[in-house]
Amino acid sequence: MKYPATRKRRLRASSALRNLSAEHTLNAHDLIWPVFVLPGEQRKKAINSMPGVFRLSVDLLIEQLTQLHQLGLNAVALFPVVDQEFKSETADEAWNPNGLVQTTVKAIKQALPELAVITDVALDPYTSHGQDGLINSRGEIMNDITVDALVRQALSHAQAGADIVAPSDMMDGRIGAIRTALEQADYQHTAILSYAAKYASCFYGPFRDAVGSAGNLGASSKESYQMNPANANEALDEIAMDIDEGADLVMIKPGMPYLDIIKLAKENFQLPICAYQVSGEYAMLQTAIDQGFLAEKPAIMEALLCFKRAGCDAILTYYADRVLHWLHEAQ
Ligand code: PBG
Repeated sequence: MKYPATRKRRLRASSALRNLSAEHTLNAHDLIWPVFVLPGEQRKKAINSMPGVFRLSVDLLIEQLTQLHQLGLNAVALFPVVDQEFKSETADEAWNPNGLVQTTVKAIKQALPELAVITDVALDPYTSHGQDGLINSRGEIMNDITVDALVRQALSHAQAGADIVAPSDMMDGRIGAIRTALEQADYQHTAILSYAAKYASCFYGPFRDAVGSAGNLGASSKESYQMNPANANEALDEIAMDIDEGADLVMIKPGMPYLDIIKLAKENFQLPICAYQVSGEYAMLQTAIDQGFLAEKPAIMEALLCFKRAGCDAILTYYADRVLHWLHEAQ
């Protein structure tokens, strides 16, 4: 049909018609809130490179989560801020049953049993060198020894009551090893969210500040295990392998510069696809918002809606708290 029989503007003429013809929407249930957890009580610390995001001790975190859960928050993803004295070459603190993550999981599950708790399985908060894996004397990441450590860490999270363990380390074979260990230990209901396509991205910079691993990592890179930003087919290969090994959900990370990968993943696989709007994306948006160059709510809502359009089922975003309030006010 040609103009004037077809006029695309007819369905854009009012918000009612725009809403009716919308292909995608952003809902409270799509959001996962990543949070930085501090040891101790009554502690709240700003993050220089992420203005508006705070590291919180578990008591203050539970106050926030209680409110957000009432607004529809389904899931929280925990990232520990580990004191230097607990970091080591071998990262043993990662599977301490009384460690910061393990005790935080227990406290949240006790206060809010219906809220899904997701834990990060990777060694970088715990290694003195800041890498996600264990290294040999030449500084190379040792894959299979790291996988053994990740299995211990994942089991300790499951034991603490984590609903979902989320390996973000990009070692080969870790999903299969973790799934097997969880089944053997009778944690058959602990789900695995695999960071299947995680790129070696400079957009993680502010996160490394937030958890205090930037100094430990120094000038070293994670390029020997995280993916090359130049590659797309390889992401499909990574995702297929992780599904085969037992992943229940998969993650693409970062988000906004990688929407093509999200779309590819959605078109090629049937399980839930998550994406992470990472710290650098937050920093870019928030800096422009704070400068008055972008309007806060429209910029954030548009960015997140575009994740949905690309094919995301769930989005990890540091904006989850703000967005939940906005979605609630709109009801
Ligand atoms: C490390 C980890 C990183 C992020 C989540 N888990 C950083 C990294 O790989 O160095 C980044 C998240 C963000 O930037 O918001 N296991």
